[in-house]
Amino acid sequence: MEKRYVLALDQGTTSSRAIVFDRRGRIRGSAQHPFRQVYPQPGWVEHDPREIASSQLGVMVEAMVSSGVSPDEIDSIGITNQRETTVVWNKKTGEPLCNAIVWQCRRTAAMIDELCGHPDVAAMVRAKTGLVPDAYFSASKMRWILDNVEGARELADAGELAFGTVDSWLVWCLTAGAVHATDVTNASRTMLFDIHEGRWDAELLELFGVPASTLPDVRPSSADYGVTAYPGLPAGIPIRGVAGDQQAALFGQCCFSAGRAKNTYGTGCFLLMHTGERAVESAHGLVTTIAASAPGAQGIEYALEGSVFVAGALIQWLRDELDIIGSAAESEALAASVQDTAGVYVVPAFTGLGAPYWDAQARGAIFGLTRGATRAHVVRAALESLAFQVADVARTMEQDAGIVIDQLNVDGGASANDLLMQMQSDILNAQINRPVVIESTALGAAFLAGLNTGFWESLQEIRAMREPDEHFLPAMDEATREERMAGWHDAVRRVLTD
Ligand code: G3P
Repeated sequence: MEKRYVLALDQGTTSSRAIVFDRRGRIRGSAQHPFRQVYPQPGWVEHDPREIASSQLGVMVEAMVSSGVSPDEIDSIGITNQRETTVVWNKKTGEPLCNAIVWQCRRTAAMIDELCGHPDVAAMVRAKTGLVPDAYFSASKMRWILDNVEGARELADAGELAFGTVDSWLVWCLTAGAVHATDVTNASRTMLFDIHEGRWDAELLELFGVPASTLPDVRPSSADYGVTAYPGLPAGIPIRGVAGDQQAALFGQCCFSAGRAKNTYGTGCFLLMHTGERAVESAHGLVTTIAASAPGAQGIEYALEGSVFVAGALIQWLRDELDIIGSAAESEALAASVQDTAGVYVVPAFTGLGAPYWDAQARGAIFGLTRGATRAHVVRAALESLAFQVADVARTMEQDAGIVIDQLNVDGGASANDLLMQMQSDILNAQINRPVVIESTALGAAFLAGLNTGFWESLQEIRAMREPDEHFLPAMDEATREERMAGWHDAVRRVLTD
């Protein structure tokens, strides 16, 4: 039967999704299932790996059925996933030893201080991995499991323990244990991988006490990851693409070369800028990470990554805690009902501030209130704070990379908000490009798979089939922009603790 579709599996932090894409990159059908979040203690976050797999395999079938697509018509599968989340399982039985430790989990913060506290060690980790030593990444989570889960160390010593990020776990499940592999983008988030050499690093494995026998084989993002062989599922579909979700989104946004950047507006924001074959070291605490490459790429490609901790979460807070909007969608109309914020600034430092401030103790505040300030002004200021935060990270990236961001590709839920996109364009003084298909993450995974099989022939072909983006162009004069930014920075200064 003619291969007419590529199936993307998008395993996110709160839900598993599957999307069937046609040859033009259009969505033919999709399915989505949330799954359980486990909070055993304050600051700890876990997922049951069996639920990750069952929800993902469930939506995979559902997406095909609901779109009326037969498995024979699927050319290949691309997988994209929440990054850093750590799974371990028994290589013989395929059974997970414990719940997955999620990227958000802070249980190993003290361990990181202990293992990486010495400046020389921290510098070594940073130089090799491009990451700032933190509990966020997989290495300390793996160590925690080896130290605390009964039988883990013994199994590892016997060479029978498998470690993986969520992509590895799904590949293992889908291939019925035939393939234990990960891709370079996911490996670059473990803090065990030398991003310059492109291999697991013995010194880092030693530092975190992780045996090499537990590690997956590392492959390019567009490569052969075996074929489906899971009992009860359509068999023999090739898995040819794997990438962490932020890198997949960068690829799905057609940011294939240095200077191209994307921002995803989710609960927080993830801003990534492609830097070509140059691993740019940040002077401001951004992380250097591996970008997904098309087949045939010469060397490793890199990106700079910065995140905003609170973005969509601020809109949820206005709705659920302050109760001043009825729905997230209402924020746009309410904010648009006033000309400006009447001097109000919201600094959403609920969990401290990230780049370029790095103040974990800072807390949120609303400034500039007068007797005439209304909820519309506060909501408008909240939206504006998203634009200010993204601009801060983008300006930091520009300084680190020496590249001006004059265009920013956007996706994620809040990118549907026209007012916010116009504010972003005004504040950043850059053109904002919003694609018709805002499912960039899944699309990126599909592209990686389809490029590997020849379903799509080249990056040019992919670029050409992208329907024209919607553009937002800067319409704010320089003096106003400077005044707004100065007001924002003044507000931020007032919440900083040092
Ligand atoms: O680094 C964490 C990131 O990959 C999670 O993304 O979209 O699942 O929240 P998301």
